[in-house]
Amino acid sequence: MLSTQSAPIVRATLPAVGASLGTITELFYRHMFEERPDLLRGLFNRANQANGAQREALAGAVAAFATALVEHPDKRPDAVLGRIANKHASLGITPDQYVLVGRHLLGAVKEVLGDAVTPAVAAAWDEVYWLMANALIAMEARLYAEAGVENGVVWHDMEIDERTEESPDTASFVLRRRDGLPTEPFLPGQYVSVQVELPDGAQQIRQYSLSAAPGHKTWRITVKRERSTDDLVPEGEVSSWLHAHARAGQTLKVSLPFGDLVLPDGDGPLLLASAGIGITPMLSMLDHLATVSPDRPVTVIHADRSPAQHAHRLELAELVHQLPRASLHLWYETVAGAPGEPEAQAAHVREGRADITGLTVSQDTTAFLCGPLPFMRAVRGDLLTHGLSPAAVHYELFGPDLWLSK
Ligand SMILES: Cc1cc2nc3c(=O)[nH]c(=O)nc-3n(C[C@H](O)[C@H](O)[C@H](O)COP(=O)(O)OP(=O)(O)OC[C@H]3O[C@@H](n4cnc5c(N)ncnc54)[C@H](O)[C@@H]3O)c2cc1C
Ligand code: HEM
Repeated sequence: MLSTQSAPIVRATLPAVGASLGTITELFYRHMFEERPDLLRGLFNRANQANGAQREALAGAVAAFATALVEHPDKRPDAVLGRIANKHASLGITPDQYVLVGRHLLGAVKEVLGDAVTPAVAAAWDEVYWLMANALIAMEARLYAEAGVENGVVWHDMEIDERTEESPDTASFVLRRRDGLPTEPFLPGQYVSVQVELPDGAQQIRQYSLSAAPGHKTWRITVKRERSTDDLVPEGEVSSWLHAHARAGQTLKVSLPFGDLVLPDGDGPLLLASAGIGITPMLSMLDHLATVSPDRPVTVIHADRSPAQHAHRLELAELVHQLPRASLHLWYETVAGAPGEPEAQAAHVREGRADITGLTVSQDTTAFLCGPLPFMRAVRGDLLTHGLSPAAVHYELFGPDLWLSK
């Protein structure tokens, strides 16, 4: 909770801080990486730094947290922090690192707002920072404890057991522990971080959803190669490296699984809507449902460029086939050349962009969305029109969370 002396100061200065958060976060990262270049090479995603996505996500989170604090000074708004804590845990962030981040973030606030930052204003924003930091530290400590590890000790070597090309741009990798023990448990929908050493020596980390159910001796991830579209947009560093170099028998540095988009227990109806590579958490959820509650009603929606580019297309149809009360609705930008396998024929296939307005969706449905932001925005809007409560619509973004700022 925010102290009585800080609450009015934060309320009065929030508009000025909020309006400058873009510049503040830019300066924050610049100064932190000047002091610690190793963090940019070995911990932070340098593409998200180059394209500004991480700055925007940080600014959005600080603004949402401070606004909620000002509106309800007696409560700590933990709701906005769950996704961040899970991401941090998958990277092995430790409490001591919050001191460095706090110093540079508050230093950037002072640099941007100048004389407006009196000692009282600085103290009030220091309090906001530490409320946020301590909430994250506590959540991360709980996540580490639940995973049975010391703070930050999430990384281990795993061997690639098998590599399969799933579509022209997508490959899956089955991973197993090098000591032969079963892989750690996880919840369907969770992801792991993977760290690779790139040709310039930087060790870059990216997240990949586990694309098969828990309970196997192995994990599976499915990676889409991010291709360069023009001179201004380079090819993705880690996905291209994995496609070019990762082969069965090699070792990858992989974190324990984390993530807060997970399938709820119970028997209520579900709707899983994905586009492109956003299919990966859905595969894990469906695979899990086929084992633990095959009678659950599930509406599965998937949008892709074409049947040939739809990774795990037959596997998706087979999983839906194992759930007697599930239906599969596919949208392809072009259906040309669709092979006629019997599994795929059971699906409702349409051409064009996904449009669920004509589907029957009961109001007690819980929905999970994963795909590009415009796809998820459109599906979410349609679901709310169908009468779903906003609280029943959950989503996963394959990048920093820009839902609030875009
Ligand atoms: C929770 C979560 C789960 C995920 N699950 C999956 C999954 O199951 N499968 C999967 O394939 N991916 C998944 N992702 C995405 C994955 O983590 C990576 O983001 C993805 O593989 C791209 O990484 P990359 O290193 O290849 O590309 P990056 O090098 O990170 O580049 C990303 C994009 O930024 C662009 N870019 C880079 N530098 C610049 C620049 N200077 N200016 C402008 N644009 C630039 C690139 O062209 C590219 O389009 C997930 C992400 C999250 C957060
Ligand atoms: C109160 C303090 C902090 C806040 C508010 C914060 C906020 C955030 C946010 C909003 C994200 C993006 C999450 C997403 O949507 O994917 C993120 C990711 C991240 N954070 Fe933090 N963070 C804090 C502290 C730290 C600390 C102490 C470190 C360690 C040095 C750290 C390292 C990272 C890294 C490496 C990422 C992933 C970056 C990327 O993938 O581009 N953060 N953080």
